[in-house]
Amino acid sequence: MKERTIHMSEQSNIQTSSRRTFAIISHPDAGKTTLTEKLLLLGGSIRSAGTVKAKKSGKYATSDWMEIEKQRGISVTSSVMQFSYRDHHINIVDTPGHQDFSEDTYRTLTAVDSAVMVIDGTKGIEAQTLKLFKVCRMRGIPILTFINKLDREGKDPLELLEEIEEVLEIESYPVTWPIGMGKRFQGTYDRFEKQIEVYRGNEESLFVNFDGEHVTDEVAEHINEGMLPSLMDELTLLNEAGNEFSMEKVKNGTLTPVFFGSAIANFGVQSFFNAFLQLTSPPQPRKSSIGEIDVNNPEFSGFVFKIQANMNPAHRDRIAFVRVCSGKFERGMTVTLSRTGKKIKLGQSQQFLASERETVDEAYPGDIIGLYDAGTYQIGDTIVGGNNTFKFEALPTFPPELFMKVRAKNAMKHKHFDKGMNQLVQEGAVQLYRTPFFGDYILGAVGELQFQVFEYRMKAEYGVDLEMIMMRHDIAKWVTGGELKDSMLDSRVMKVEDREGNPVLLFENDFVYRMFQDKYPDIKLSSVLEL
Ligand code: G4P
Repeated sequence: MKERTIHMSEQSNIQTSSRRTFAIISHPDAGKTTLTEKLLLLGGSIRSAGTVKAKKSGKYATSDWMEIEKQRGISVTSSVMQFSYRDHHINIVDTPGHQDFSEDTYRTLTAVDSAVMVIDGTKGIEAQTLKLFKVCRMRGIPILTFINKLDREGKDPLELLEEIEEVLEIESYPVTWPIGMGKRFQGTYDRFEKQIEVYRGNEESLFVNFDGEHVTDEVAEHINEGMLPSLMDELTLLNEAGNEFSMEKVKNGTLTPVFFGSAIANFGVQSFFNAFLQLTSPPQPRKSSIGEIDVNNPEFSGFVFKIQANMNPAHRDRIAFVRVCSGKFERGMTVTLSRTGKKIKLGQSQQFLASERETVDEAYPGDIIGLYDAGTYQIGDTIVGGNNTFKFEALPTFPPELFMKVRAKNAMKHKHFDKGMNQLVQEGAVQLYRTPFFGDYILGAVGELQFQVFEYRMKAEYGVDLEMIMMRHDIAKWVTGGELKDSMLDSRVMKVEDREGNPVLLFENDFVYRMFQDKYPDIKLSSVLEL
């Protein structure tokens, strides 16, 4: 029998279309870890739930590269988990949440094709969810919502939808709808599948067909009769007054399909994920200096979105996280670093599985690979196979909210201090500013832990003790237009320069910022700067 030959490029296309690369965005404690764990279980990647959790508690931390991480029992930097499910290759890029929330967290979102927003049904939209949501929104990627903790008494589902629409300014479409909650929780109704997923506590869910109007014996057998009239009323309301479903709006991130469930009870997780696979797209073309780069372009390309230091404490090596955008990555291949034109042989590369890291021999668009880096890469770098160099569109820089004046305690250590500052800042977890005349160093970070990590590493890796003074300012804006005069500045509005010499204003608080804008409307200020 003659077998059909599948060409390399065709094979690569099949690989790409089966990929889904996404991040879970949420506020701490909403249930991101629990949901991730349940997804990994679906893919059979972990033997039992608890692996991810254990990591979080520090018990089995696989990346105990720093004392801080151990002490705090948290993972300082985000990682990637890869698993297979229903012929799909899934990459979940983790977004660190607790005290380790950082610019890295934001930047991770530039490497994903969609996001899952987990909301605690008892709390609604919380601060961190909103911040992360805004970044996803800016990128125009699909955002699916999982409203969690239905096993607990929470907010009214209609109120939650209203909150999503008002606070996040996005249309919502509930794909599933809860039948009761807390102690009265019976299950959810799937408006697409026209079936009820019956909640049975620790037992696996049962699925019962229901057209939303005619109560069959089977429905009556599993759902408390008293709950059905309000379910039917609510479904009618959603059908008549709710948003219409639009796949196009899902794709451009202006409508979020909403699902209800309980991650801890593993309820609604599988049906959510099955729908997720249908509602999200495989990796899409990415903008570059020579136009859009198609994922099916046979030539390998990717970009560095994150640099993580010292995974191996014995070395000062770093790992550059690369999102593959086109072609096929093969270990040992030679690529060109577009920024410098330098050729690099990618000999040592890693892939991230749920529980461990292993050498990767090949990877396709959508995948995330880790490359050993002895200081070659910078965040935002493009690498391309072959000679045709181009650059992917710049990654945005996000404004820090905390600022510290920093200097070496021992002035004799100045050389080490400068070296350490520059190398660590390159990794992108903190921003460095200088004051115009004296060139004082100011560090800016999104989360406070970044300063502690920075201080620790300056001592451990460069032998420099730091003196750090927290500043009162909490807003940074790039000056993108208008003529800034010294007379506009005072102790509450400070002018500094970023690493590239771009002018930045630091404001003491939102009130001071607004006053400044009212007084000097010609000065154009921006929260995000394209690198
Ligand atoms: P995070 O990663 O978003 O921070 O949240 P995580 O999954 O760690 O969950 C935060 C807390 O919420 C955990 O409780 C977890 O068990 C609980 N939780 C997650 N999903 C659900 C759910 O569907 N229903 C209910 N009732 N609780 C849920 P904890 O007490 O902080 O930790 P643990 O002692 O349970 O591990």
